[in-house]
Amino acid sequence: MTHPPKLLVFDSGLGGLTVFSEIVKLRPHADYVYCADDAGFPYGAWAEPALIQRVMTVFESLIADHAPDMAIVACNTASTIVLPHLRAHWPTLPFVGTVPAIKPAAEHTRSKMISVLGTPGTVARDYTQNLIAQFAAHCAVTLVGSKRLATLAESFMRGEPANDAEIAAEIAPCFREENGRRTDVVTLACTHYPLLVEEFKRLAPWPVEWIDPAPAIARRADKLLAERFGADAPTGQPTPRRAIFTSGRKPEPPLLAALARYGLDC
Ligand code: DGL
Repeated sequence: MTHPPKLLVFDSGLGGLTVFSEIVKLRPHADYVYCADDAGFPYGAWAEPALIQRVMTVFESLIADHAPDMAIVACNTASTIVLPHLRAHWPTLPFVGTVPAIKPAAEHTRSKMISVLGTPGTVARDYTQNLIAQFAAHCAVTLVGSKRLATLAESFMRGEPANDAEIAAEIAPCFREENGRRTDVVTLACTHYPLLVEEFKRLAPWPVEWIDPAPAIARRADKLLAERFGADAPTGQPTPRRAIFTSGRKPEPPLLAALARYGLDC
């Protein structure tokens, strides 16, 4: 390949930046398009058939416009239901998904009490139930579908101050105590949540391990890229990193500044 691989990183909003920033560390010379489907945000409350249709439609135009070499679906809510449809429709394009990190949570817990903090959609999925049955059958697993956290993370990225009381109320159901044991691992099953993890740590009733799957997803993408396109290498050309929003709205200055910190232009 003479040009660097073009990577499409996709989410309903800004949460996918948590995955994007990890991939950039491993593949600094790739050519990136970051797409936020802000016109469809939040995905957490969408019914499954409508969400499948929505994501397929957005990908039709993204693939037509950008011809990526790989797509990273940096969204648990979409990955846990849409990935098989994407792969069937574009069989030659590699898709890397993001699904709840239940296996590492089950491996790291000592109390055998773990919580999965995701959107209402993600925690209701059969996919999530199957991961629990496969990897965490020996644990007490609390599923917490937060209605507000993804929106709070978006506001935070747009420069609004974090609302401590609201965040504390959203994470509170993750913290369980039973027979002298208590939750010691919370898996962040929505890519928006690592954007608020410092707030979670500050507001948690007791310290727990917060698992952010982004580094593991980046390693997976890097491995697939190495198999297909070889190692990351400078090409002598500047590699663009563009953020696009499906609403077509131009981000306000605080968000533009946040995107610039990720090296993204609009
Ligand atoms: N960032 C998304 C996820 O990982 C979803 C946020 C939303 O649109 O509700 O699940």
